[in-house]
Amino acid sequence: MIADVSKSDKIVVEKSTVPVKTAEAIEKILTHNSKGINFQILSNPEFLAEGTAIQDLFNPDRVLIGGRETPEGQKAIQALKDVYAHWVPAERIICTNLWSAELSKLAANAFLAQRISSVNAMSALCEATGADVSEVSHAIGKDTRIGPKFLNASVGFGGSCFQKDILNLVYICECNGLSEVANYWKQVVQVNEYQKNRFVNRVVSSMFNTVSGKKIAILGFAFKKDTGDTRETPAIGVCQGLLGDKAILSIYDPQVPQELIQRDLSMHKSELDKPPHLRPVNAVAIEQVTCVGDAYEAAKGAHGICILTEWDEFKTLDYKKIYNNMNKPAFVFDGRNVVDIEKLRQIGFIVYSIGKPLDAWLKDMPAVA
Ligand SMILES: NC(=O)c1ccc[n+]([C@@H]2O[C@H](COP(=O)([O-])OP(=O)(O)OC[C@H]3O[C@@H](n4cnc5c(N)ncnc54)[C@H](O)[C@@H]3O)[C@@H](O)[C@H]2O)c1
Repeated sequence: MIADVSKSDKIVVEKSTVPVKTAEAIEKILTHNSKGINFQILSNPEFLAEGTAIQDLFNPDRVLIGGRETPEGQKAIQALKDVYAHWVPAERIICTNLWSAELSKLAANAFLAQRISSVNAMSALCEATGADVSEVSHAIGKDTRIGPKFLNASVGFGGSCFQKDILNLVYICECNGLSEVANYWKQVVQVNEYQKNRFVNRVVSSMFNTVSGKKIAILGFAFKKDTGDTRETPAIGVCQGLLGDKAILSIYDPQVPQELIQRDLSMHKSELDKPPHLRPVNAVAIEQVTCVGDAYEAAKGAHGICILTEWDEFKTLDYKKIYNNMNKPAFVFDGRNVVDIEKLRQIGFIVYSIGKPLDAWLKDMPAVA
């Protein structure tokens, strides 16, 4: 389309995260249809994260611009650099060749996801041995070579980027005959799956080895706080696991609309893997699931609560009131380490928090794989 409508030379900037070498494909298509017009393709990967997009835009850690190493390519890079120079200091604008820019984007997300899988793997070991994952994260994060960011243990990472970008990286490695490298990165996704399954197993084993017919409140469905996005949210896997054992779910999320939750849960994994426009429109609502307007309603008459998104409001709920309206024994399974464990135990809850020392009740339950 760009080739069709262009009447003068153009710089085309690739912003989306795309398979490495997409810029080359764009270049070929444009050049073959150019009618004498010169096109320069730049790769300018996006580093905005959901929930903090505006801060990230105004104050980026770095801006990455990749282009051809020819004089025309360098001129195009300079033109885009001049745009960013209006608000980004020059030392934070990094210029590379095209392939480095495209690959750096995948590598950055793979490294971030790898940190989460690393700390989540540690959380399993902490539970088995009595260490506290928050203390371990704090201690290792103080090492300036490691740094404190992205070290929160959780029920798993989600979002539209991490899994897709790692699988993209794995594919590129395999295409280049690098099976060991591909397997290394695949493991980051596998630990993420393990973490979700481990959480479900913990819930089921703690509640006398079955959640069949039991009401469980799900607090939070988005893949992280301050967004209504549910793409690849760990809540889907956890809810599907609990539904598989015939639990009755009452779900509350401050931003995710009911229709989206129903749609996400009524689809099989294979359907979720398809792009949204190829998914079935009339996905059947699951009878075991209701969506409600607040956390108190969700927990009313429930046997257990699972916290799956770190929304700030879950830290300050009136847990005494919640406890009084629940079935006993009342369980809290905190998949984001947001609650005050001691306070909740004093109220009477049996509390499980990812990577934290287990209370006596959970220790007596069968080991969780
Ligand atoms: N979301 C987009 O539309 C988009 C578009 C282009 C590029 N990107 C890039 O992809 C990356 C991922 O973006 P995102 O929107 O998924 O947000 P994100 O990086 O904040 O979140 C991804 C996952 O990391 C987890 N996470 C966040 N902070 C954490 C911490 N301190 N400790 C442990 N886990 C933590 C979240 O729970 C979530 O599951 C961004 O950094 C950006 O570079 C995102």
